[in-house]
Amino acid sequence: MNENFHTETTEPAENPLDISLRPPDLDDFCGQEKVKARLSLMVEAAQKRGDVLAHNLLCGPPGLGKTTLAHIIAKATGAELHCTSGPQIEKAGDLAGILTNLNRGDVLFIDEIHRLHPAIEEYLYPAMEDYRLDIIIDQGPNARTIELSLPRFTLVGATTRAGMLTAPLRSRFNMTNRLDYYSAEELTHIVIRSAGLIRIVIEPGGALEIATRSRGTPRVANSLLRWVRDYAQVKADGIITADVADRALAMIDIDEDGLDEMDKRILEATIYKFDGGPVGLSSLAVAVGEDASTLEEVYEPYLIMQGMLARTPRGRVAMRKAYEKIGAPPPPTSSGAATESELNLGN
Ligand SMILES: Nc1ncnc2c1ncn2[C@@H]1O[C@H](COP(=O)(O)OP(=O)(O)OP(=O)(O)O)[C@@H](O)[C@H]1O
Ligand SMILES: [Mg+2]
Repeated sequence: MNENFHTETTEPAENPLDISLRPPDLDDFCGQEKVKARLSLMVEAAQKRGDVLAHNLLCGPPGLGKTTLAHIIAKATGAELHCTSGPQIEKAGDLAGILTNLNRGDVLFIDEIHRLHPAIEEYLYPAMEDYRLDIIIDQGPNARTIELSLPRFTLVGATTRAGMLTAPLRSRFNMTNRLDYYSAEELTHIVIRSAGLIRIVIEPGGALEIATRSRGTPRVANSLLRWVRDYAQVKADGIITADVADRALAMIDIDEDGLDEMDKRILEATIYKFDGGPVGLSSLAVAVGEDASTLEEVYEPYLIMQGMLARTPRGRVAMRKAYEKIGAPPPPTSSGAATESELNLGN
């Protein structure tokens, strides 16, 4: 079997605790109501017709449930899930190996699909549209194309960077599902559910405290919960109350808005080192000692959503809320703050 490819008969070999917290079906998956409604309708319709599910693209920031949904989709259709990721498919042959191993109705999950090599993408187009693969064999005058027909399958693509997907690839997905950050209420549900699974007693106030400090992200909520559990078992009587959660999170420097040390460094650097901006992404990355793409994909979206940072064509700009957050004197209106038109252009 192709080494870049594995079939998921059992759970993937990630953090075993994480796996057990992954909701197994749509009913257990909290939030993202629109996406859930669409997916369950598509699954039901496909089943009624005896057809395979149409191709789906899942996009959104890390940790919001894209991989989880791919597992759920496969389970709901009763199909086998095959997982791979954009950077793992290096050659056309890798993709051919993966596709020819599929059975009718199988779900192929390509994570980080925006990182697929452009040449590989070209092979994917006819596979998605016509379930056909055109492979070129031999070189020079002997080169010829052979056409392989593939079983009807469902492609589920996931990306944290929908904007980096080429238009032809994006248009071949029948549905694009964008995941949004979760509300505190939804995260509270997720925390309570996870607490039950890892067998820790949690009060509603404790769950809410963790939820509001989880950056709208279930993965963060689950990892904070594990930390707060450790804290409760060592420093308290093993029950997560609002006060225990507060003390535990203060100990790892997560503030009341869920911002951590790196978030604050980003805001401080933008304000103090670059006069509130605009500052280019690469300069900011050097100033805070973090990789530019991590900054862009992991930290910025939440700071932008919180209204603390803005992306403009000239660079990143600290907003008034950022000055308040780090206790800096507010910016003079003429500098730093981006104009309305700049903000629109920056989107
Ligand atoms: N809606 C949800 N309800 C309950 N738990 C969730 C939900 N969404 C995500 N989780 C939990 O959060 C964890 C992270 O989700 P997942 O791995 O699906 O994120 P992702 O979007 O694929 O992230 P990445 O972009 O980093 O791959 C899961 O292990 C799961 O436990
Ligand atoms: Mg994932």
